Order: sequence, then structure tokens, then C-alpha cells
Amino acid sequence: MKKILDVITEEMVSAFEAAGLDAKYAKVTLSNRPDLCEYQCNGAMAAAKEYKKAPIMIAEAVVEQLQGNPMFEMVEAVKPGFMNLKISKEYLAGYLQEMQADEERLGCEKTEHPKRIMIDYGGPNVAKPLHVGHLRSAIIGESIKRIGKFMGHEMIGDVHLGDWGLQMGLIITELKLRQPDLVYFDDSYEGEYPKEAPFTISELEDIYPTASGKSKVDEKFKEEAMQATYELQHGRRGYQALLSHILNVSVTDLKKNYENLNVSFELWKGESDAQPYIPAMVQKMKDDGYAYISDGALVVDVKEDTDTKEIPPCMILKSDGASLYNTTDLATIVWRMKDYHPDKIIYVVDKRQELYFTQVFRCARKTHLVDENTELQFLGFGTMNGKDGKPFKTREGGVMRLETLISGINEEMYKKITENRTMDEAEARETAKVVALSAVKYGDLSNQASKDYIFDMDRFTSFEGNTGPYILYTIVRMKSILNKYKAAGKNADHAKLLPAHSESEKALMLVLSRFNGMMENAFEEVAPHKVCSYVYDLANALNHFYHETKIMAEEQEEIQASYIRLLELTKRALEICIDVLGFSAPERM
Ligand code: ARG
Repeated sequence: MKKILDVITEEMVSAFEAAGLDAKYAKVTLSNRPDLCEYQCNGAMAAAKEYKKAPIMIAEAVVEQLQGNPMFEMVEAVKPGFMNLKISKEYLAGYLQEMQADEERLGCEKTEHPKRIMIDYGGPNVAKPLHVGHLRSAIIGESIKRIGKFMGHEMIGDVHLGDWGLQMGLIITELKLRQPDLVYFDDSYEGEYPKEAPFTISELEDIYPTASGKSKVDEKFKEEAMQATYELQHGRRGYQALLSHILNVSVTDLKKNYENLNVSFELWKGESDAQPYIPAMVQKMKDDGYAYISDGALVVDVKEDTDTKEIPPCMILKSDGASLYNTTDLATIVWRMKDYHPDKIIYVVDKRQELYFTQVFRCARKTHLVDENTELQFLGFGTMNGKDGKPFKTREGGVMRLETLISGINEEMYKKITENRTMDEAEARETAKVVALSAVKYGDLSNQASKDYIFDMDRFTSFEGNTGPYILYTIVRMKSILNKYKAAGKNADHAKLLPAHSESEKALMLVLSRFNGMMENAFEEVAPHKVCSYVYDLANALNHFYHETKIMAEEQEEIQASYIRLLELTKRALEICIDVLGFSAPERM
């Protein structure tokens, strides 16, 4: 379906042309004065210069052409040269009927040019517990992926596990201290290694922090861990077997955590998967003359003439020949291009890594790891802060584990839900989980990703204001009205959605009619917060309409059925939106 803004613009274009004016001035926008009009066109101002006339005269000439046009109920020229428009209620109802006929997508067409887009998000580090930093990547990435899918693109999410650094050596070294007799440490062993991991996830979660703590105070321990890392990376069999155990145990646990967040990945690749591609990649960078030795390290220059700040060279190999985070990211691009040849790769990573990604992207382009048509995009997100404005911490000041955070919110939500409602324990717990997830996700996504935000438990879990629970509450409210209507033995399935009977009804219809344009725009700008702000507008418009209208008491069946149709449409739109945001609504709350 055409976007409503485009439909209006087409009429405006015809009007400009009919008035003998250039159509390029016929730009229509959503009104910034909703008290005066719904849409506006300010083109007369610019046209006045070209035609050397007063803007108001131009506006009047255009408006003249639009008088009697059935699409509008008001078209007026206002000094100095604004054109104010109001859509006719009949036209609007017709537009919504068409949306309604497409129950699946509400008239939001899939793109004609589907792209293959890989999205690198999540980025958890194996054996280290997920912390709140990873939460943002997961929430934002998942939503972008869903918006893209809805728009008809092929979206491939890759978790890009951090599974290759010193943390592996640390774990191996600590494990060796605890269980020195394990066959993995026996160099002469040539048989098969056991299938069963020599540790559980809780042991693993104890091993890593212990080892990490030791490495900070115990130089010898650290050296051993570095040595183990080196040996692992150079193919020591026993260590490779341990690495697979660490990965398996850790990934099982990570999957469970992500599942609780309603987040899933198409690919569970890690930094270690890039390793086989490194030697050939490095060799080629050398052969092509891009990589050279500087202070012992192998680097590629990535600065450009137009830089206003210094962009240091991209380091490919350290002086001891070891690979780095950069090397891994570059080699990851190599396999992504080889196996998937994406049109675009989006990286959803902490914005503090922006300079790093500038280097990586430039290096990848310069050395032709990507071809010209593949776009690399960095989507940096800001920090989630506590109420004190500092990065979110536990009460004791430690790094907040994701699980702790989530169960805290679940508990808070459970309290709220059981305060004034009667639900059995199991349903209350389940509902609390669903609503809590909306609180966390909406609280995050409603901010522009690049901005820092304050995680405010009280505000996020509130049923009022711009929050996830408020949106869910609105949906649940509609479900309950629709159920009541059905329980009264009525059915609106074949009823017609009628032109608005009141201002509040029309306002709701206007928001609904923006659905497809909003979704398209949210995808183009890679901006889930646009979906949130739409959802908030829609929920507000619905609640306003609801308060002003006696739906269940309406005596005229036709009108009542039309209200019901409108509620159904609103509910569907909200459900599609929260689905792309990555959460869902309960039956009641
Ligand atoms: N594991 C990294 C971290 O915790 C994030 C990975 C981001 N993705 C990437 N391709 N570098 O900081």
C-alpha cells in the first residue's frame, strides 16, 4: 500500500503543477502544529523566491486547486505562506479499511529489493558471565534484525562469541592447578579425549573469575596463562579439546540466557572461527603492499586526508606474531564474504569501540576484503547507567550480571502484579516475566541507541508513562474489550470501519495510517526507537479514544462494530510493533 504521506504528496504535486508551479516545492510533512492541521506544506516559501511573488499568493493559488478534493476536509493557506491540510474522514476510513484487509502486514509492503544483511550483535565472551553491557547489544541487535525481516530482507544474526583471548589460557591454567591429572594436560597422550566436559557451568563460572583475579596479582600465573593461550592458538591438541568443552558448556548456558531475553541467533560463530583465515589474509596484505612492519608490529595505514583527528594505523599482528582483536574481526569479514557475501554487515557494539571499527572498516576496504557494494556499518550504543549517572553496578559496586538484573526486575514486576490483582501464583510469575521483559527492552529501545541512558527500575516498570508495561497494559485493555464484545454474543468480523465520529477517533485513525511509513523509516534509519515512539503515540491515541467513547454502551450496532474493528486494527498494529521490538503481551495483567 502506498504511504499516506506519499498519497497526499501526489495530490500536492498535481496541485502545484496545475497552478503552473514546479512540483519540486510540493513537499508535504506531518504537521508540527497538530492544533491547526494534520499535514502541511511549506513549499510556497521557497517557490516565492523563484517566482518572485509573495508566498501567500503562491499558497493561495495551490490551495485553490485542492478545493473540493475528496481527500481533504480542509485545505487552507495561512500567512505568510503555509498550507495546512486535514484529511477527510471518509478518505481516512477507506485507507484504514485497506490496511485491515491485509491482516498480516497492515499494508506495509515488503521491500522490492531484498538485501542480505548480517548483523553482528550479542558479542558475549565465553566463560565470562553476561553483564549489562551485553544486554544492550542483544536488545538493539535483535530488534534491528526483526525490523529488517519484517521489511523483507534476509537478516542473518551472528553472536560473534569472544572465544579466543587470554581468558581461555586463564581457564586452562586454573583448571590445571585444580585437576592436574586430567588427560588434556598429558602431552604424550594420543588417544581420543573424553566427550564429557571436566567441569560444569557453575564450576566454569568460578574458574574464570578466580583465574582472572590471580593473574592480576601473580605474575607467574599470568605468564603461564599467556603461554597456554599461545599453545592453544598454535594447535596444542589437549587445549583445543578443552576449548571445545569450554565452548559447549558456555554456549548451552548462553543460549538459555538469550532465550530468556527472547533473543536468538542464526549463527553461533566466534572469534576462533576466524583463525583459519588469518595466515592467508595476512600474507595477501603483505604481498599487495598494504601491510608493513612498524616498531616490530605488522600494520596497515588507514588515515585519510580528510581526517580531522588522528586515526592510527590498524595493527594486524603484534611483534611476537600473535593475532589481535583486529585480526580476528578482519578475518571474520573474510569468511562472512566468502560464505554469505552480504550486502551489508551491521555491528551493534558499545560506542567506545567506534575508533576501533573505523580502523577495521577502512583496513577491510583498503585491502579489498570487502567489495565496493558491501556496506559496513557501525551502530555504537551508549552506556546503561545507574541512577547516579555512572555505569550500572551492583549495590556492592561490582559488575552487574545480567541474570541478577533480570531476576530483580522479574521480582519487582511480580510484586506489582500481585499487589492489586488476583491471579494464581504460576500465572502471576509467568506474566511478571513477560511484562518485565517489556520493561527492560522498551526502556532501552525507546532511547536513541547511541545515547547513554539511566536504568530506572521504578520508572521502567511503571504502568504509566512511556514504558513497556504501559504499552502492554493498553493491549491487554483492548483484548478485554474485544472479549467482552464477543461474550455478549456479537461479531464484528464483517462490519465496516466507518469514518470517525469524534476528534479522538480521528486522531487514533491518523496515527494508524502512518504505520507503513513509520516501519519503513525505522528500517532505513536502523532506529528501533522510532518504532517505540510510534507505539507510544498509538497507545496514547487509543487510550484517549477509549476514555472519550462509550464503546460497550454504544446503542447503534453499526457504530459499535466499527469501534471494535478499529480496536482490532490498533491491537494488531501494536502487536506487530512489539514483536519487532522483541517482546510480547500477556492475556491479562
Ligand atoms: N566480545 C566483545 C566485547 O565483549 C564484543 C564483540 C563485538 N563484535 C565484534 N565483531 N567485534 O566487547
